[in-house]
Amino acid sequence: MTDGLRIHDLHTGYRKKKIMSGLTTPLLPRGQITALLGPNGSGKSTLLRALADLNPAQGELLLNGEDLMTLPSATRAQKVVYLPQSLPQGVHLHALESVIVARRASGSLHSHNVEQEAYAILDKLGVAHLAMSFLDQLSGGQKQLIGLAQSLIREPDLLLLDEPLSALDLNYQFHVMDIVARETRLRNIVTVVVIHDINIALRHARYALMLKGGELIASGLPGEVVSPASLATVYGVDGRVEYCSRGLPHVVVDGVIP
Ligand SMILES: Nc1ncnc2c1ncn2[C@@H]1O[C@H](COP(=O)(O)OP(=O)(O)O)[C@@H](O)[C@H]1O
Ligand SMILES: [Mg+2]
Repeated sequence: MTDGLRIHDLHTGYRKKKIMSGLTTPLLPRGQITALLGPNGSGKSTLLRALADLNPAQGELLLNGEDLMTLPSATRAQKVVYLPQSLPQGVHLHALESVIVARRASGSLHSHNVEQEAYAILDKLGVAHLAMSFLDQLSGGQKQLIGLAQSLIREPDLLLLDEPLSALDLNYQFHVMDIVARETRLRNIVTVVVIHDINIALRHARYALMLKGGELIASGLPGEVVSPASLATVYGVDGRVEYCSRGLPHVVVDGVIP
C-alpha cells in the first residue's frame, strides 16, 4: 500500500548543524490528521520545512508512491503547503486579497470565481467578517486563521501546519481542528500538524509521531504513542493517561522528573 506519506532515511538540518540523520517513519495515513509531537527544539519545524523543500534535505519522501525529492520544485510546491508558526510581518493586504493571491499562486488562474471561493473558505473558518481587514492589523489568532484559509485554498496533497493553534482561544482551537480534520477527510490528503497540547492531539489526531533530538521516539495511534513512558522519556514529566466520563483519554501531569 502506497497511499500516504512515507519518510525514508531523511537527512536535514542547517549549514553547521545536522538535525536529522536518517529519519524513517511508517506510512502517515491519508484522510486523517497526523499529530507531530515533541518538546521545543526537537526538530518539528525543521522536519516540516524539509518536507516543504524549505530546508536542504536528502532521502526519500514518498507521497502516494511518488518521491517528492525528484519532482521539479514548482510541481512540489503545488502539492505541498507549509503554514509556518507565524506569518511574515508587514504584509499590507486585505485578508480576502491574501487568500485570493494564495489561490492564484497555486496555479489555478482559470478558476471561475476565485473571490467567491476565497470568501467561502473564510466563512467556513468563521472569519468572513475579517475579509476586508488588513493582515498587519489582525491579532495573532486572527492571522493564524487567515493563514489556514490561504493554505486550504491552495488544495495541497500534503498539508503541513506548524503550531496552528498557538494563538487561538479554546473555542477556535476546537473549531480549527474540527475543520482541518474534516477537510483532510473530504480531500483525502495527508495532514501533519504540530500540536503542543497533547490532549488536543489525543482528541483530534488519528496518528502521531513523537520526536526528541531529531529522532523518532514513537509512532502510531495517539493513544499508544502517548504513554507514561514516552511522557517521561520525551518531555521529562511524570504523567498519566486518564479516561474522562466520556471515555476519552487525557494526560494529567503530576510533576517534573528531577
Ligand atoms: N535557522 C536555523 N539555523 C540553525 N539551527 C536552527 C535553525 N532553526 C532551528 N535550528 C535548530 O534546530 C533544532 C530544531 O529546531 P526546530 O525544528 O525549530 O524545533 P521545534 O520546532 O521542534 O521546536 C534546534 O536545536 C534549533 O536550535
Ligand atoms: Mg517549531
